[in-house]
Amino acid sequence: MLFQTLTLDVADRVAVLTVNRPDKLNALADLVIRELGQAMDDLRGRDEVGAVILTGAGRAFIAGADISEIGKADALDAKRRSRLGQEVFRKFETSPKPTIAAVNGFALGGGCELAMACHVRLASEHAKFGQPEVKLGLVPGYAGTQRLPRLVGKGRALQLLLTGEIIDAQEAYRIGLANAVVLAAELMDRARAMAGAMLANAPVALALCIEAVNAGYDLPFEEAQQYESNAFGLAAATEDKREGTAAFLEKRTPAFRGR
Ligand code: COA
Repeated sequence: MLFQTLTLDVADRVAVLTVNRPDKLNALADLVIRELGQAMDDLRGRDEVGAVILTGAGRAFIAGADISEIGKADALDAKRRSRLGQEVFRKFETSPKPTIAAVNGFALGGGCELAMACHVRLASEHAKFGQPEVKLGLVPGYAGTQRLPRLVGKGRALQLLLTGEIIDAQEAYRIGLANAVVLAAELMDRARAMAGAMLANAPVALALCIEAVNAGYDLPFEEAQQYESNAFGLAAATEDKREGTAAFLEKRTPAFRGR
């Protein structure tokens, strides 16, 4: 699949998706959002891909929605863009294959929101995070007002949303927005290593964990527990569960087949 605003490389079952508009700090023009959606649909269907790493070309991860486009948008167009972005970002969140944001630089506005939609965020020491929409007279439109409080708590989320301040990687790590901070030169290797660690595990079990966390998060606890039990039951019926438990008892490495 060919893209105008993205590059895609697949090796060792890991897809690296790079937003490639470095001259505009990888700002999310409408076309970028559409191509991200197409890429995730494509990767979901590819058996040779088990995990996705999202990063940005040049010095930014993604510096937000494209302000030149948003500046011209009327109410209905802005709402449409918001809904499209939410739908595309949700593909990262609900992907049955793990999604890792390798945050190499600015992750602002929509960039921070897209990083939050990924399952894990690895930050380079140079990464910067923030939701500066209020400085433009806007509010986040890609579920930032919803995911940020869920990740860092309501008080910290409101502080970031209301000040529009940009925080560095260490602060993002301290508040739980970044999972880890790594040397810039090691970011992609560390992201690949994390993807590799995930891919050593049973694929159906990975997908069921993601599904249970996503589905259960906003349910009443008892319903969420039921959801988990169903996932547990489903996992127990897989060949990979037989292989995983047998391999443990036989003191060997399991050979998972994804069924
Ligand atoms: N939308 C469109 N273009 C953007 C952009 C965005 N969100 N962020 C950066 N760019 C463009 C700049 O206009 C500039 O283009 P130009 O060279 O054609 O003038 C280019 O990317 C480089 O950005 P610049 O501002 O010159 O870099 P900087 O190092 O001085 O500042 C930032 C970096 C990230 C602090 C600054 O670009 C910024 O504040 N961006 C907007 C962040 C934001 O508000 N995002 C939320 C949008 S809803």
